[in-house]
Amino acid sequence: MNIRKIEQEEYWKVRAQHYNELQWANEKQYLNAVVEAGDFRPNHLVLDVGTGTGIVLHAIAPKVNEIIGLDISQAMLEHSNWQNNKYFVKRDIREPFFHESVFDRIVARMVFHHIIEDIQKAADECYRILKLGGKFILSEGIPPNKQVKKDYIEIFKLKEKRITFMLEDLVEMIIKAGFRNIQTSTFVMPRMSINNWLEKSGLPAKTQDKIFEMHICASDCFKKAYNMKIIRGDCLIDIKYVILIGEK
Ligand SMILES: C[S@@+](CC[C@H](N)C(=O)[O-])C[C@H]1O[C@@H](n2cnc3c(N)ncnc32)[C@H](O)[C@@H]1O
Repeated sequence: MNIRKIEQEEYWKVRAQHYNELQWANEKQYLNAVVEAGDFRPNHLVLDVGTGTGIVLHAIAPKVNEIIGLDISQAMLEHSNWQNNKYFVKRDIREPFFHESVFDRIVARMVFHHIIEDIQKAADECYRILKLGGKFILSEGIPPNKQVKKDYIEIFKLKEKRITFMLEDLVEMIIKAGFRNIQTSTFVMPRMSINNWLEKSGLPAKTQDKIFEMHICASDCFKKAYNMKIIRGDCLIDIKYVILIGEK
């Protein structure tokens, strides 16, 4: 294993412990929006890329014949429940594993921002293993507008190594992979608790405090863009997610 892979495994080992308690990851309306975008049918074979603890996979599973979760992190996969029509594979999406044109649907929620090297390879691989006429459903959190992108990057710098996308970056990436008939939608999750997000992050207490303070002390423009509210010692913000559908 190279150093980056060891670092990744260590990072997810810490995050896996409380991942299933994250408010945003379990939020029903966001999950439903991703599931609806997939337009799943019982005969579909589905791949959930970067499945993590399988939250998205478990939401899709009742609708389809078979679904496979793929993830690089053993620790995240170990925090999932294995059941009849669900399989989990420990792989990196950038490393070809499946045959070409196998899946009817491929889903990737909140995964691509973690692929900081060779991201195009990941999108290209999703395209390669999808059947002709199949759909790729990609979802990512993005800054609420371009003005606050810089602050967003500064805050996330303390949390993790990641890519900050705007919608157009994601569109460009999937078009480059070969996807067509791109549809995009936005989902705004209201009142996400910064306390929940930080407490379940596995970050050292000092870093959590710093990130919390950066929210409280942010510019008026930032507070407005996030519709920030301070309630009983918590900071609540509206988070913007985009959902893209691309067809092969
Ligand atoms: C924020 S979690 C998202 C989990 C799940 N999709 C969800 O929405 O709850 C990101 C997941 O992507 C996985 N991941 C990151 N890079 C990956 C890669 N190159 N190939 C496969 N999985 C990857 C991580 O291990 C982690 O479990």
